[in-house]
Amino acid sequence: MKLDNCSALITGASAGIGREFARQLATRARTLVLVARREQRLNELRDELRNRNAHLNVHVRVVDLCDKTQIDDLIEWLERDKINIDFLINNAGLGDYGSFATSDPERDDRIIQVNIAALTLLTHRLLPPMVAKKRGAILNVSSSAGFLPIPGMAVYAASKAYANSFSEALRAELRGTGVTVAALCPGPVHTEFGDVAMRPGGQPERGPEFVYVSVEKTARDALAAVEADRPLIIPGLAMKLGMFLVRITPMSILRLAWRLGAKRG
Ligand SMILES: NC(=O)c1ccc[n+]([C@@H]2O[C@H](COP(=O)([O-])OP(=O)(O)OC[C@H]3O[C@@H](n4cnc5c(N)ncnc54)[C@H](OP(=O)(O)O)[C@@H]3O)[C@@H](O)[C@H]2O)c1
Repeated sequence: MKLDNCSALITGASAGIGREFARQLATRARTLVLVARREQRLNELRDELRNRNAHLNVHVRVVDLCDKTQIDDLIEWLERDKINIDFLINNAGLGDYGSFATSDPERDDRIIQVNIAALTLLTHRLLPPMVAKKRGAILNVSSSAGFLPIPGMAVYAASKAYANSFSEALRAELRGTGVTVAALCPGPVHTEFGDVAMRPGGQPERGPEFVYVSVEKTARDALAAVEADRPLIIPGLAMKLGMFLVRITPMSILRLAWRLGAKRG
Protein backbone atom coordinates (compact mmCIF):
# COMPACT_ATOMS: atom_id res chain seq x y z
CA MET A 1 0.00 0.00 0.00
CA LYS A 2 1.32 3.47 -0.83
CA LEU A 3 1.73 5.35 2.41
CA ASP A 4 1.18 8.87 1.07
CA ASN A 5 -1.86 10.40 2.79
CA CYS A 6 -2.29 7.38 5.04
CA SER A 7 -3.86 7.58 8.50
CA ALA A 8 -1.55 5.65 10.78
CA LEU A 9 -1.89 4.54 14.39
CA ILE A 10 1.49 3.85 16.00
CA THR A 11 1.70 2.11 19.37
CA GLY A 12 4.80 2.78 21.43
CA ALA A 13 5.36 6.13 19.73
CA SER A 14 7.00 7.73 22.78
CA ALA A 15 10.42 6.16 22.19
CA GLY A 16 12.71 4.14 19.95
CA ILE A 17 11.46 2.55 16.77
CA GLY A 18 7.86 3.79 17.18
CA ARG A 19 8.95 7.42 17.50
CA GLU A 20 11.09 6.99 14.37
CA PHE A 21 8.11 5.60 12.42
CA ALA A 22 6.21 8.77 13.35
CA ARG A 23 9.11 10.98 12.23
CA GLN A 24 9.45 9.22 8.88
CA LEU A 25 5.71 9.26 8.23
CA ALA A 26 5.31 12.92 9.25
CA THR A 27 5.87 14.35 5.79
CA ARG A 28 3.79 11.70 4.01
CA ALA A 29 0.82 10.81 6.21
CA ARG A 30 -2.41 12.78 6.54
CA THR A 31 -3.07 11.68 10.12
CA LEU A 32 -0.94 10.15 12.85
CA VAL A 33 -2.33 8.77 16.10
CA LEU A 34 0.47 8.43 18.64
CA VAL A 35 -0.17 5.91 21.41
CA ALA A 36 1.88 5.20 24.57
CA ARG A 37 1.75 5.87 28.33
CA ARG A 38 4.19 8.82 28.61
CA GLU A 39 2.08 11.82 27.69
CA GLN A 40 4.80 14.46 27.83
CA ARG A 41 6.97 12.51 25.40
CA LEU A 42 4.02 12.14 23.02
CA ASN A 43 3.17 15.85 23.26
CA GLU A 44 6.77 16.83 22.51
CA LEU A 45 6.75 14.51 19.49
CA ARG A 46 3.40 15.93 18.32
CA ASP A 47 4.84 19.49 18.42
CA GLU A 48 7.98 18.38 16.55
CA LEU A 49 5.93 16.65 13.83
CA ARG A 50 3.60 19.64 13.43
CA ASN A 51 6.62 21.86 12.95
CA ARG A 52 7.76 19.58 10.15
CA ASN A 53 4.38 19.41 8.45
CA ALA A 54 1.74 22.01 9.27
CA HIS A 55 -0.91 20.02 7.35
CA LEU A 56 -0.42 16.86 9.40
CA ASN A 57 -3.18 15.89 11.87
CA VAL A 58 -1.45 14.54 14.94
CA HIS A 59 -3.37 13.05 17.85
CA VAL A 60 -1.90 11.96 21.15
CA ARG A 61 -3.63 9.16 23.06
CA VAL A 62 -2.35 8.05 26.44
CA VAL A 63 -3.12 4.35 26.64
CA ASP A 64 -1.74 1.58 28.82
CA LEU A 65 -1.91 -1.36 26.42
CA CYS A 66 -2.00 -3.78 29.39
CA ASP A 67 -5.52 -2.52 30.06
CA LYS A 68 -8.16 -3.84 27.66
CA THR A 69 -10.70 -1.16 28.68
CA GLN A 70 -8.21 1.57 27.67
CA ILE A 71 -7.85 -0.11 24.26
CA ASP A 72 -11.66 -0.20 23.96
CA ASP A 73 -11.75 3.54 24.84
CA LEU A 74 -9.16 4.24 22.13
CA ILE A 75 -11.24 2.43 19.51
CA GLU A 76 -14.42 4.25 20.65
CA TRP A 77 -12.62 7.60 20.40
CA LEU A 78 -11.45 6.77 16.85
CA GLU A 79 -15.00 5.89 15.83
CA ARG A 80 -16.52 8.98 17.52
CA ASP A 81 -14.01 11.31 15.85
CA LYS A 82 -14.36 9.45 12.53
CA ILE A 83 -10.65 8.76 12.24
CA ASN A 84 -10.30 5.89 9.78
CA ILE A 85 -7.01 4.15 10.39
CA ASP A 86 -5.64 2.48 7.26
CA PHE A 87 -2.15 1.77 8.61
CA LEU A 88 -1.75 0.07 11.98
CA ILE A 89 1.75 -0.22 13.40
CA ASN A 90 1.70 -2.59 16.37
CA ASN A 91 5.09 -1.49 17.65
CA ALA A 92 4.86 -1.22 21.46
CA GLY A 93 6.69 -3.98 23.24
CA LEU A 94 8.92 -4.88 26.16
CA GLY A 95 11.23 -7.65 27.25
CA ASP A 96 12.92 -9.08 30.33
CA TYR A 97 16.53 -10.22 30.70
CA GLY A 98 16.94 -13.19 33.03
CA SER A 99 15.75 -16.69 33.82
CA PHE A 100 12.06 -17.48 33.86
CA ALA A 101 12.29 -19.12 37.30
CA THR A 102 13.43 -15.83 38.84
CA SER A 103 11.16 -13.57 36.76
CA ASP A 104 8.52 -11.23 38.15
CA PRO A 105 5.13 -12.70 37.16
CA GLU A 106 3.71 -9.19 36.80
CA ARG A 107 6.36 -8.32 34.24
CA ASP A 108 5.75 -11.63 32.40
CA ASP A 109 2.08 -10.69 32.28
CA ARG A 110 2.86 -7.20 30.93
CA ILE A 111 4.97 -8.76 28.16
CA ILE A 112 2.09 -11.05 27.21
CA GLN A 113 -0.49 -8.24 27.41
CA VAL A 114 1.46 -5.72 25.32
CA ASN A 115 3.36 -7.98 22.88
CA ILE A 116 0.51 -10.45 22.25
CA ALA A 117 -2.92 -9.44 23.60
CA ALA A 118 -2.91 -5.74 22.64
CA LEU A 119 -1.43 -6.47 19.21
CA THR A 120 -4.16 -9.05 18.56
CA LEU A 121 -7.02 -6.91 19.92
CA LEU A 122 -6.02 -3.74 18.04
CA THR A 123 -5.67 -5.73 14.83
CA HIS A 124 -9.08 -7.31 15.38
CA ARG A 125 -10.76 -3.95 15.99
CA LEU A 126 -9.11 -2.00 13.18
CA LEU A 127 -9.17 -4.69 10.50
CA PRO A 128 -12.91 -4.82 9.52
CA PRO A 129 -13.06 -1.20 8.19
CA MET A 130 -9.84 -1.81 6.23
CA VAL A 131 -11.33 -4.93 4.63
CA ALA A 132 -14.58 -3.06 3.91
CA LYS A 133 -12.62 -0.27 2.17
CA LYS A 134 -10.31 -2.81 0.45
CA ARG A 135 -7.34 -0.76 1.62
CA GLY A 136 -5.06 -1.13 4.59
CA ALA A 137 -1.76 -2.30 6.00
CA ILE A 138 -0.79 -3.87 9.30
CA LEU A 139 2.83 -3.82 10.41
CA ASN A 140 3.59 -5.96 13.44
CA VAL A 141 6.89 -5.11 15.08
CA SER A 142 8.13 -8.51 16.10
CA SER A 143 11.81 -9.45 16.58
CA SER A 144 14.48 -11.82 15.37
CA ALA A 145 13.99 -13.28 18.84
CA GLY A 146 10.77 -14.74 17.42
CA PHE A 147 12.69 -17.17 15.20
CA LEU A 148 14.13 -19.26 18.03
CA PRO A 149 13.59 -19.97 21.70
CA ILE A 150 16.00 -17.84 23.75
CA PRO A 151 17.07 -19.05 27.18
CA GLY A 152 17.20 -15.96 29.39
CA MET A 153 14.41 -14.27 27.37
CA ALA A 154 11.92 -17.12 27.30
CA VAL A 155 8.63 -15.20 27.54
CA TYR A 156 9.79 -12.38 25.25
CA ALA A 157 11.03 -14.75 22.51
CA ALA A 158 7.81 -16.77 22.75
CA SER A 159 5.74 -13.58 22.48
CA LYS A 160 7.58 -12.65 19.30
CA ALA A 161 7.16 -16.19 17.89
CA TYR A 162 3.44 -15.51 18.33
CA ALA A 163 3.76 -12.20 16.44
CA ASN A 164 5.60 -13.91 13.56
CA SER A 165 3.14 -16.80 13.30
CA PHE A 166 0.09 -14.54 13.65
CA SER A 167 1.39 -12.14 10.99
CA GLU A 168 2.02 -14.91 8.42
CA ALA A 169 -1.37 -16.55 8.98
CA LEU A 170 -3.24 -13.24 8.85
CA ARG A 171 -1.38 -12.24 5.70
CA ALA A 172 -2.50 -15.48 4.01
CA GLU A 173 -6.11 -15.03 5.20
CA LEU A 174 -6.20 -11.48 3.83
CA ARG A 175 -4.75 -12.23 0.41
CA GLY A 176 -6.84 -10.51 -2.25
CA THR A 177 -8.68 -8.24 0.21
CA GLY A 178 -6.50 -5.15 -0.35
CA VAL A 179 -5.13 -5.38 3.21
CA THR A 180 -1.50 -6.40 3.67
CA VAL A 181 0.35 -7.71 6.71
CA ALA A 182 4.07 -7.61 7.41
CA ALA A 183 6.28 -8.55 10.34
CA LEU A 184 9.34 -6.47 11.20
CA CYS A 185 11.97 -8.68 12.87
CA PRO A 186 14.93 -6.54 13.84
CA GLY A 187 18.00 -7.75 15.66
CA PRO A 188 19.51 -5.34 18.21
CA VAL A 189 18.61 -1.65 17.78
CA HIS A 190 19.84 1.11 20.14
CA THR A 191 16.65 2.22 21.94
CA GLU A 192 15.37 2.18 25.53
CA PHE A 193 14.47 -1.51 25.12
CA GLY A 194 17.59 -2.81 26.95
CA ASP A 195 17.13 -0.45 29.93
CA VAL A 196 13.49 -1.48 30.28
CA ALA A 197 14.33 -5.21 29.98
CA MET A 198 17.15 -5.07 32.54
CA ARG A 199 16.26 -6.27 36.03
CA PRO A 200 17.22 -4.25 39.13
CA GLY A 201 20.96 -4.73 39.69
CA GLY A 202 21.26 -6.63 36.37
CA GLN A 203 23.96 -6.19 33.77
CA PRO A 204 23.16 -4.62 30.38
CA GLU A 205 22.98 -7.32 27.67
CA ARG A 206 24.83 -6.15 24.57
CA GLY A 207 25.64 -8.02 21.37
CA PRO A 208 28.60 -7.14 19.13
CA GLU A 209 28.18 -3.68 17.59
CA PHE A 210 28.21 -5.00 13.99
CA VAL A 211 24.79 -6.64 14.46
CA TYR A 212 23.17 -3.34 15.55
CA VAL A 213 21.05 -1.43 13.04
CA SER A 214 19.99 2.19 13.55
CA VAL A 215 16.38 3.11 14.37
CA GLU A 216 16.35 5.18 11.16
CA LYS A 217 17.26 2.22 8.93
CA THR A 218 14.95 -0.13 10.84
CA ALA A 219 11.94 2.12 10.27
CA ARG A 220 12.93 3.01 6.70
CA ASP A 221 13.32 -0.66 5.67
CA ALA A 222 9.99 -1.53 7.28
CA LEU A 223 8.04 1.28 5.58
CA ALA A 224 9.60 0.40 2.20
CA ALA A 225 8.61 -3.25 2.72
CA VAL A 226 5.01 -2.29 3.54
CA GLU A 227 4.85 -0.26 0.32
CA ALA A 228 6.29 -3.20 -1.65
CA ASP A 229 3.97 -5.67 0.14
CA ARG A 230 6.81 -7.80 1.47
CA PRO A 231 5.93 -10.19 4.33
CA LEU A 232 9.05 -10.07 6.47
CA ILE A 233 11.68 -7.44 7.22
CA ILE A 234 15.03 -8.25 8.86
CA PRO A 235 17.08 -5.03 8.69
CA GLY A 236 20.85 -5.36 8.22
CA LEU A 237 22.96 -7.88 6.32
CA ALA A 238 24.49 -9.52 9.42
CA MET A 239 21.06 -10.22 10.95
CA LYS A 240 19.59 -11.36 7.60
CA LEU A 241 22.39 -13.90 7.25
CA GLY A 242 22.29 -14.92 10.92
CA MET A 243 18.53 -15.45 10.87
CA PHE A 244 18.73 -17.43 7.62
CA LEU A 245 21.14 -19.83 9.36
CA VAL A 246 19.01 -19.97 12.51
CA ARG A 247 15.89 -20.77 10.51
CA ILE A 248 17.49 -23.71 8.67
CA THR A 249 19.14 -25.13 11.80
CA PRO A 250 17.27 -28.13 13.28
CA MET A 251 16.12 -27.72 16.88
CA SER A 252 18.29 -30.72 17.89
CA ILE A 253 21.42 -28.74 16.90
CA LEU A 254 20.20 -25.65 18.79
CA ARG A 255 19.62 -27.83 21.88
CA LEU A 256 23.15 -29.18 21.60
CA ALA A 257 24.55 -25.62 21.32
CA TRP A 258 22.64 -24.57 24.47
CA ARG A 259 23.86 -27.67 26.34
CA LEU A 260 27.49 -26.93 25.40
CA GLY A 261 26.97 -23.23 26.26
CA ALA A 262 25.52 -24.14 29.69
CA LYS A 263 28.50 -26.44 30.45
CA ARG A 264 30.97 -23.70 29.56
CA GLY A 265 29.07 -20.90 31.32
N1 LIG B 1 15.46 -2.38 20.40
C1 LIG B 1 15.68 -3.61 20.01
O1 LIG B 1 16.81 -4.12 20.08
C2 LIG B 1 14.56 -4.42 19.42
C3 LIG B 1 14.88 -5.56 18.68
C4 LIG B 1 13.86 -6.32 18.12
C5 LIG B 1 12.54 -5.93 18.29
N2 LIG B 1 12.25 -4.82 19.02
C6 LIG B 1 10.83 -4.48 19.19
O2 LIG B 1 10.63 -3.15 18.75
C7 LIG B 1 9.46 -2.62 19.39
C8 LIG B 1 9.79 -1.22 19.88
O3 LIG B 1 10.78 -1.32 20.89
P1 LIG B 1 11.94 -0.25 21.06
O4 LIG B 1 13.22 -0.96 20.80
O5 LIG B 1 11.64 0.99 20.33
O6 LIG B 1 11.85 -0.06 22.66
P2 LIG B 1 11.59 1.24 23.56
O7 LIG B 1 12.49 2.34 23.16
O8 LIG B 1 11.65 0.73 24.97
O9 LIG B 1 10.09 1.65 23.20
C9 LIG B 1 9.01 0.84 23.61
C10 LIG B 1 7.70 1.57 23.38
O10 LIG B 1 6.63 0.72 23.81
C11 LIG B 1 5.76 1.48 24.64
N3 LIG B 1 5.11 0.66 25.65
C12 LIG B 1 5.66 -0.26 26.49
N4 LIG B 1 4.74 -0.73 27.35
C13 LIG B 1 3.57 -0.12 27.04
C14 LIG B 1 2.24 -0.17 27.57
N5 LIG B 1 1.94 -0.96 28.62
N6 LIG B 1 1.29 0.59 27.01
C15 LIG B 1 1.59 1.43 25.98
N7 LIG B 1 2.82 1.52 25.42
C16 LIG B 1 3.79 0.76 25.95
C17 LIG B 1 6.68 2.50 25.33
O11 LIG B 1 5.91 3.66 25.68
P3 LIG B 1 5.59 4.13 27.19
O12 LIG B 1 6.66 3.59 28.07
O13 LIG B 1 5.57 5.62 27.09
O14 LIG B 1 4.25 3.55 27.45
C18 LIG B 1 7.63 2.86 24.18
O15 LIG B 1 7.08 3.87 23.38
C19 LIG B 1 9.10 -3.61 20.50
O16 LIG B 1 8.01 -4.40 20.10
C20 LIG B 1 10.35 -4.48 20.64
O17 LIG B 1 10.05 -5.76 21.10
C21 LIG B 1 13.22 -4.06 19.58
